[in-house]
Amino acid sequence: MVRLERVNKIFHTRHFLLADEDTGRRTLYRKKTVHAVNDVDFAVKRGEIFGLLGPNGAGKTTAVKMISGLVRPNSGAVYVDDLHVERKRLKVLRKVGVVLEGTRTSIWPLTPLENLAYFGNLKDVKGPVLKQRSRELLNFIGLKDKMNVQVRRLSRGQKQKLAICIALIADPPVILLDEPTTGLDVQSSRAIKDKIIEITREHGKTALVTTHDMNVAQELCDRIGIINHGKLIACQPTDELLGLFAEKTFEFHLNRAPDLSLLRQIPGVEAAQLLDGEEEIVLAVTVARDEEDRSAALYGAIQCLHAQRILLRSITQRRQTLENVFLRLTGDTEPK
Ligand SMILES: Nc1ncnc2c1ncn2[C@@H]1O[C@H](COP(=O)(O)OP(=O)(O)OP(=O)(O)O)[C@@H](O)[C@H]1O
Ligand SMILES: [Mg+2]
Repeated sequence: MVRLERVNKIFHTRHFLLADEDTGRRTLYRKKTVHAVNDVDFAVKRGEIFGLLGPNGAGKTTAVKMISGLVRPNSGAVYVDDLHVERKRLKVLRKVGVVLEGTRTSIWPLTPLENLAYFGNLKDVKGPVLKQRSRELLNFIGLKDKMNVQVRRLSRGQKQKLAICIALIADPPVILLDEPTTGLDVQSSRAIKDKIIEITREHGKTALVTTHDMNVAQELCDRIGIINHGKLIACQPTDELLGLFAEKTFEFHLNRAPDLSLLRQIPGVEAAQLLDGEEEIVLAVTVARDEEDRSAALYGAIQCLHAQRILLRSITQRRQTLENVFLRLTGDTEPK
């Protein structure tokens, strides 16, 4: 539904010194190019929720802007529903609803209701449909009591909520959300996540979400692309991504400390260490990835603890989090 093919975007920036006091002329200080999006390829399928993650300045917003036709790529092509974004711009605009980062996404002197009427009209949503949809959206997002208040008098989170309503007013098949839950309270964030799930799962819409909130990404996205310094460094289903660095570590909750050297001798046990537990002793055992070796290691560890007459209270497997995976993949901060 959304496709980027070898897309590049290079920004040229000029840094100026302050104006010369006598002549008033400003002197060119430095020219810089930023490869904001570097040869990026990915596709988002119909009905899918795709998460685009990456550190600040990675190129996420630039990618979103290119999909919505706001920024032109230097090379490569972007397609929405097989329509070339640059060549079929107007058609593409009707298919895409976009929430950009920041608060300048609505018209501040107008009220939320007037904003929805304005943006709805631009996308040919009129009359009773517009009225009904506006009220429904404002209601679900919790802005009903502010629908007749000028936007400039709304809080940041309320402006963000309105931006999401504007993106949904024309019921577009593709929705691009750049950091949709930033600045929102827990309930509103939940409502947005539920709405994204509803429109994709129940109505077959396609969503692309950028976020810094790993919980949002992990909970919401079917597939995740990680972008760093403009390059896509990972792109796979969320489960697979989580499995990428899945450490096979088990935590044994015990009543007293075991002899670690005995545990470390067990075949298949790669590491054994004690963690600082509050009240009980927690032994972390990292085992082999191979299933048979892992099984042997676990049996061995249990026998070893049993032989030492240690009480085994529970065993848990340590879960990999998206945050860990993200940090491992984007660990370096310097551009390559
Ligand atoms: N209009 C512009 N002119 C010049 N450089 C730009 C412009 N827009 C973005 N850039 C640069 O391109 C790079 C990518 O920016 P982008 O906004 O896409 O990052 P991002 O991944 O959305 O970051 P964040 O998480 O902070 O929102 C940055 O280095 C940024 O400085
Ligand atoms: Mg951004």
